[in-house]
Amino acid sequence: MKTQLILAVDLEDKEQAKALLEKLRGKLTYIKIGLQLFTKYGPAIVDEFAAMGFKIFLDLKLHDIPNTVASAIKSLRGKPIELLTIHTLGGNAMMAKAVETAKEVLPDTRLLGVTVLTSMDTAQLNGIGIGREPMEQVEVLAKLAVASGMKGLVCSPLELPALRKFLGEEIALVTPGIRPKTASLDDQSRIMTPADAAAAGASYIVVGRPILKADDPAAAALAIQAELA
Ligand code: C5P
Repeated sequence: MKTQLILAVDLEDKEQAKALLEKLRGKLTYIKIGLQLFTKYGPAIVDEFAAMGFKIFLDLKLHDIPNTVASAIKSLRGKPIELLTIHTLGGNAMMAKAVETAKEVLPDTRLLGVTVLTSMDTAQLNGIGIGREPMEQVEVLAKLAVASGMKGLVCSPLELPALRKFLGEEIALVTPGIRPKTASLDDQSRIMTPADAAAAGASYIVVGRPILKADDPAAAALAIQAELA
């Protein structure tokens, strides 16, 4: 499958987001709604953006006891959600329960596991009692996620080659930290270009500011997709 572009709609205001999305209709397919918009406007924002013709990646990074995560997923019953994140650190029982619940209430949704946040380095991991290097910990959690029935993972671009190698083609790998060669890095440091991420095995790339802050967001989105093609 061709690597797909997902726009991270990291904006504060819904009307501002809708005005931007209006310019991007027909130019890209997937958008990511994160905690910022979801917390402010509630689940209705999923329906509202989907009604504009976009496919939705809902990035809630659920992490709780199995029953509570399952209940949260039930609260999303029937919503037009393509991709939904949960934390793999919740463990096998939580993920398996999430997968089972999603099959029932969100049959067309692919659950994505978040492994080690890229804000966590070796020292941060040590601080929460994990003595492994981040990449080793990512592999442990990725294997656990797949064994629990998850069909996708969020990962950093640098983790793509290793994960793609041992996970095979069926698992969707979704990666942020992408910058076209000409774009500003903003606060991202370990980045990859869209073309390199596609070559390394990304199923989806998540891009925010290089599109959100462009003078011509539609042109920026089209240029990134041309690079992926
Ligand atoms: O603007 P930018 O392209 O950096 O946005 C990337 C998006 O991906 C943001 O929504 C950010 O929260 C998210 N993300 C990230 N790095 C991670 C996980 C998520 O940049 N490790």
